[in-house]
Amino acid sequence: MAPDLSEIDEEEIHFSNIVTTFRNYARYSLTANNRRRKDIYRLPKADQDVLEQLGYKQKLDEVDNAIRVNAEFLGQIVANPEIFGPDQAVEEDEEDDTRVLHDHAEDPGPSHSHSHSHPHTRSSHTHDHSHEAHSPGQRKKYKPTDFDMDKLRSTLKQFVRDWSEEGTEEREACYTPMKDALVNHFSNIPAEERGRLRVLVPGAGLGRLAYDIAKMGFACQGNEFSHYMLLASYFILNRTDSIGKHTFYPYVHSFSNVPSRSAMLRAVSIPDVLPSDLPSGSNFSLVAGDFEEIYGADSDPAEPQSGQWDAILTCFFIDTAKNIVNYLRVIHRILAPGGVWINLGPLLWHFENNNTNDLSVELDLEEVKALARTIGFELSNEKTIDTTYTSNPQGMLGYVYNAAFWTATKI
Ligand SMILES: C[S@@+](CC[C@H](N)C(=O)[O-])C[C@H]1O[C@@H](n2cnc3c(N)ncnc32)[C@H](O)[C@@H]1O
Repeated sequence: MAPDLSEIDEEEIHFSNIVTTFRNYARYSLTANNRRRKDIYRLPKADQDVLEQLGYKQKLDEVDNAIRVNAEFLGQIVANPEIFGPDQAVEEDEEDDTRVLHDHAEDPGPSHSHSHSHPHTRSSHTHDHSHEAHSPGQRKKYKPTDFDMDKLRSTLKQFVRDWSEEGTEEREACYTPMKDALVNHFSNIPAEERGRLRVLVPGAGLGRLAYDIAKMGFACQGNEFSHYMLLASYFILNRTDSIGKHTFYPYVHSFSNVPSRSAMLRAVSIPDVLPSDLPSGSNFSLVAGDFEEIYGADSDPAEPQSGQWDAILTCFFIDTAKNIVNYLRVIHRILAPGGVWINLGPLLWHFENNNTNDLSVELDLEEVKALARTIGFELSNEKTIDTTYTSNPQGMLGYVYNAAFWTATKI
């Protein structure tokens, strides 16, 4: 079903707010760091002197500089938001404010740790494009919330996971077993014929797994609905012309569990490979929009989905479902007979305890597997893979997921 005009307006406003978030990064982050500076002056003079000897103030200055570098990088990502639509007018005067602001009180904004955006866009963004847009009209200036900034900082960490040398270990833990399972499943197809096999990667993040699969010769489509991810993946895939072109500081936003100044202030460069380096004739696309809306209904006769995919790879994705039953039904329906679903990830149900009144079905792993069998999958290659997710390898705190892995064939 085509989205109505109010939905399109809502999506444009949402997009504009995210661009504003990118452009407010410096102001917001420098203000947060300046709070530390101001706190020094609340201490007794003797304590201030001790901190001076430790070089604490100098460290705060270095963090300011790192934030400015990050702001420059993030500013490039949203330099031309009109590529996502002609009417993506955003609040220009918010950008590039890299001064330290001393008197800026932050409004924490509403807390909604699991809320999600639901754009309806169905546009491939591996090539420049624009889509129909309608003016959102006059609006109040948007003030990004802590939640928005958290998403933006996560996007920087996602860059490390997908496109840096530093992310290699994490990628190998997650993506390599999935790629191996894909190749094994189609071991009877010669590598030069892989282009006729259509592989879908829902919740593609910044696109590295989908890119790797396309590089292996498969026809691969990623799907993603977060504007943070879409803006960032567009930039890295279409606007980056050399290895190591961009440098930023992903670890300067929290001073907790930091073992050393160098651990916090270390720079990361991206990309580790040239995204434009796909062999000619490769078939790689990223489609923007909600997985269930795009692939869950055969509403567009020009792009039927049922039985059209030879493989679906879900990495840290299935727990984004409100209704896991429908996710698995859609995956099953759009796979071709004998098609394969390869999964790796935890069950961190994204909508558990949401405060947006979204429904949420939260199964345990045994139940998810039983559901998959009920829906018509035969599971094999079941195992647990220990992996981090956008973790700081040098931090004093690290989460390790015992992620579930399986290969499931459509019976
Ligand atoms: C935990 S991240 C995993 C990203 C990537 N697969 C990886 O392993 O790095 C889940 C991703 O799925 C996306 N996502 C969540 N729900 C979605 C939906 N209904 N349709 C499309 N993408 C979705 C999120 O925006 C996010 O980028």
